[in-house]
Amino acid sequence: MGKKIIVGNWKLNKNLEEVADWVDGIKIKLKKVDFDKNLDVVICPAYPYLLGMVDLLSDTNIKVGSQDISQFEEGTYTGEVSGKMLSEIVSYVLIGHSERRKYFKEDLSIIKRKVEKALVNHLIPIVCISDKVWGDGLPAAKYNEKFFLHQIKNVIKGLKPAEVKKIIFAYEPPSAIAKQKHEIGVGHAADVNKVIKVVELIKSIVPESKVIYGGSVKAENIMSYLSNNIIDGVLPGSASLHAQDFGDMIINATEGLSGLH
Ligand code: PGA
Repeated sequence: MGKKIIVGNWKLNKNLEEVADWVDGIKIKLKKVDFDKNLDVVICPAYPYLLGMVDLLSDTNIKVGSQDISQFEEGTYTGEVSGKMLSEIVSYVLIGHSERRKYFKEDLSIIKRKVEKALVNHLIPIVCISDKVWGDGLPAAKYNEKFFLHQIKNVIKGLKPAEVKKIIFAYEPPSAIAKQKHEIGVGHAADVNKVIKVVELIKSIVPESKVIYGGSVKAENIMSYLSNNIIDGVLPGSASLHAQDFGDMIINATEGLSGLH
């Protein structure tokens, strides 16, 4: 079984004091936990905290990622943060989360440009693949195989195999994403057998890429997603906000995975 990955997404949450508390909390929680052998752990705070988090976490094995990246390289694009800037600070970037697609009207061409900017700047893109259609000209459906294939093919079109291999795809059904702020497990995590089927479908197109799952993942259910050879990791949102819960996820995954080896 390859190394799995846990990517926490804080979304639009936390102030400076809460960031510092989280870092203190996670360090205490994981003091004696040697997760690095079986797990990559990434946390994605809002832009203003990236640099500070990298610094604060430099004595841990937790890596920092960005929640977004500009589709532009540089210039007259007020408010944007480029791949070049990010590459000096972080190594991972989330792209095309369903919330960005919904609230910021990101379409497949924007997602494609963002993936290209990430790769050019040696960032690892974590590309979210949704089973909902956001105005990309295809019929809406709860789960639409054609749309899946279309999204992935759009992302990898024109890329070299070595670049495709670097991309992590995240299957994120919006119906499973917790809607309420700071509440864990209020969403309905997708059935693991369904997730495995979808991940297999994605891997039929990108067999060398990692494919992870996101939607109401928490300490209690994390191992149901990680204990197979198909799903390469998880992308928790609400459960990553609290150091205790995020730490419990890492501990459960570390213990669960070491038992499988
Ligand atoms: P959730 O969010 O874990 O709170 O459901 C997942 C996500 O949106 O990435």
